[in-house]
This record gives sequence, C-alpha cells and structure tokens, in this order.
Amino acid sequence: MTTAASGAAPTFGEPPPAALLDDAETLGVDELRALQLARLQESLRRAYDHVPHYRRAFDAAGVHPDDCRELADLARFPTTSKADLRDNYPFGMFAVPQPQLRRVHASSGTTGRPTVVGYTERDLDTWATVMARSIRAAGGRPGDVLHNAYGYGLFTGGLGAHDGAQKLGCTVVPVSGGMTPRQVQLIQDFRPRVVMMTPSYVLTVIDEFENQGIDPRSSSLEIGIFGAEPWTEQLRREIEERLGIHAVDIYGRSEVMGPGVAQECVETKDGLHIWEDHFYPEVLDPITGEAMPEGEEGELVFTSLTKEAMPVVRYRTRDLTRLLPGTARPGMRRMEKITGRTDDMIILRGVNLFPTQIEEIVLRTPGLSPHFALELTTAGRMDHLVVRIEARPDCPPTRRPAAASEVATGVKDTVGTSVEVLVVDPETLPRSVGKLQRLTDNRDRG
Ligand code: DLL
Repeated sequence: MTTAASGAAPTFGEPPPAALLDDAETLGVDELRALQLARLQESLRRAYDHVPHYRRAFDAAGVHPDDCRELADLARFPTTSKADLRDNYPFGMFAVPQPQLRRVHASSGTTGRPTVVGYTERDLDTWATVMARSIRAAGGRPGDVLHNAYGYGLFTGGLGAHDGAQKLGCTVVPVSGGMTPRQVQLIQDFRPRVVMMTPSYVLTVIDEFENQGIDPRSSSLEIGIFGAEPWTEQLRREIEERLGIHAVDIYGRSEVMGPGVAQECVETKDGLHIWEDHFYPEVLDPITGEAMPEGEEGELVFTSLTKEAMPVVRYRTRDLTRLLPGTARPGMRRMEKITGRTDDMIILRGVNLFPTQIEEIVLRTPGLSPHFALELTTAGRMDHLVVRIEARPDCPPTRRPAAASEVATGVKDTVGTSVEVLVVDPETLPRSVGKLQRLTDNRDRG
C-alpha cells in the first residue's frame, strides 16, 4: 500500500500514537466524567429552559435539571423518542430561535412526517470536529483525496462527512450516491485513498468495477469508512478482500448529530469509539426502559452534551448493541457493531431474527454472494420468510440447491426457525445506492 499524500500512514494492528489524538481523546476517565457531568447539567438546563416538550416531560416525571448531581442521576430523566420529534414537527424541539439555525436536515419521511434536526454555527463546528476525528481514527490523514458517496441533501451522511473531511484537511470529492459507473470512473481518475459510502453500496461499486473488467484491488483506495446501516464482520472481510482495503465502521444518528457519533479505529477494528465528550451513551432494556447490566446488549440511548440547537435527552435509537470499556482512548467507551434495529427485527413464529444473522450465514456459504433480499409472506395462517440470495457469478448451477439448504440449516441451527431459501441468478436482486431496504413485508393483513 502507498502512504498518504502527507502525514504518517497508520501502522495497522497497533493502537494509534498519542500524537494523533486530540485533547479530548487523551482525557483520563475521571477528567472525562467530570467534563461530561458539567456538560450534562448545562444541556439538561438548556432543554428545560428552551424546549417546551422537555419542560413538560421533566415536570411530568417530577425531575428538574438541578436534580442531576452525578451522571447516574440521568436515569431519573424521561427518555425521548422519534414520536416526540414528529409531534413537535417541524421546529418545536429547537432550543434556539430559527435565525440562529445555520442548517436543517430531515429524514425522508416515507412513513409519516419527516423528523427535522437543526444546527447552530457552533453545532456545525462540533459535528465537523467529531467527524474529522472519526476519519482520522479510520486512518485518513490531511492531504488524502476522499471520495464521499454518502447522499448529499437532507440526509446527514453526505454533508456531515464532507464538512469533517474538509476540516481534517482532505481533498473531498463530493460525489453523493448513485450513477455507479461514474463512481468507478472517478475513483480511477482522481485516485482517492479514502472512500465513504454505505456497506451495501460499496458492494454495488465493487461489482461495477468487475463488470467494467477492472480488478477492484488495483484501485488507489486504502481505507473505506462504511456505516448508516448494519453490517457484519463477514461483510467486512468480503469488502476488504475484494477491494483490497481496510474497512471500518462509522455510526451516527441524525437526531444525535449525524455521522461521527462513534467510529471504529483502523488499528484495532474492535468496536466503535463513542465520542463521549459530546454524546453520552446508555444501554436500556428495549421493553422496560430500565438500564441493562454493564456490558449486556440492549437499546442504545444517547444524550447530547454540547448541542445548542437541538439538545436530545436520552434519545432512544432503537439500535441494539452493548457497551465495552475504552481502550486506546481510556475514558471513551466503545460500542459493539450494531446487531440491528428493534424495528428491523423479524418475529417469525415467536423467534426473533435479524437480517445481520442471515448475512453472517450467507457469507460463510460457498457459492453465495452478499446480495440477498427478505420477503415476509403468509402461508396458511403462519408468517413465512423467503430469503432470496444471488449466486456468485462463478457458482456452478449444480451447487445452488446445496447452498440453499446449507443456509436454511444454518438459520434453523443458529436462530431456531425455518425459512425458505432460494438461490437466484447473479444481478437479479435490487441494488442499493444508499441505505439498503432488505425486507419486504407482503403478509396477508386480512
Ligand atoms: O445514517 C447517519 C450516518 C450517515 C451514519 C453516514 C453513518 C454514516 P440516520 O439517517 O438518522 O443517520 O440513521 C440512523 O442508521 O439509528 C442505525 O439504525 C443506522 N446506522 C447508522 N450507522 C450505523 C452503523 C445516519 N454503523 C440509523 N451500523 C441508526 C449499523 C447504523 N447501523
């Protein structure tokens, strides 16, 4: 691999040298906790004083910002959900008057009112700072050419990654998603070292390289920063091998900030470092809302510590993960790769199933590609799941039935439920350009 245009290239397998960390990343645990408490108290006060929703919710729960004397007191405050944002559409959750907003973003709103988020000048600077830190943790360096194929527009991915890359000192190529042949051409011509897009879209791009007769491993790319949807270790290996890069995970959520809330470090690839100087994590039981015992899986919940325009208090992400202790950055806990969202959980004859579990099984089955789609239907009075998986182009047709039955057995053994598996021709399932929608629900509602 070539070295970065400027600055030292990371030594893979070793923790990052201290010189590459910023001041907040090197804080000791006690210092960081003290900083978090001061910021939390201020943030709760800001929410209570300036956002009627929080004043009502805190009053109803019988808590006041003055009751937060230590970090553990946060558990006494009510949680916030997407429904609260929808109920206060469009600008009701903002703690500043509209003229102080420098930008808004919004969800696509395909299932109702969009959720709107807003940023002051300082918020945009904080976001760019944590995003720059994320790219640096991923191995990006000033002077790198960075190909950004996250969607630009109301989605936070494109502009969020863009501002951070620029702040780090990269040369940003703001491609956005889609027009896949052109993505390949620009990668070939501009020779980026870093690429950012969703893990499902990079698979589309890798296929396009191959369709054009170009070996994807011959590209200039060395690092890929992939997120915005769940992906597994098996998919990481697939991407790393086929594209000849290091693939690292980035997490974000628009209501919390956008991309750059947590980032995996290229040296260790051992979970995502949560930038705890700005975002305070908790893991709760998704059903009862009670704190999970330390290190156990549950729903990830974030409280913003420094946001001005839209502070969030105990925002329920519906993402499932567990918290791990800090490593290279001792005070900052890590989160494990996300298993899935509670919304994406398929309940099949009483058994919970996540698409990531199917991804793991598909990718360890010889002859099968990472492209698969899930369809829920009704068979008799029972729910039925059909898993369609594309064969790899070099998979002999005679291998397909065995591959299908290996996946069905794998699901039965690891998850405990029966699914129907169909191995289909290459290039017949829909491709992603951004976040991939794996599941179609065609159940009979009659
Ligand atoms: O997806 C922000 C983002 C952009 C993150 C680019 C990373 C890269 P939202 O549209 O609000 O924001 O969607 C947030 O996407 O709650 C998760 O369910 C999912 N998600 C985001 N990152 C990951 C990840 C952006 N690394 C929702 N792994 C979150 C798994 C992820 N799921």
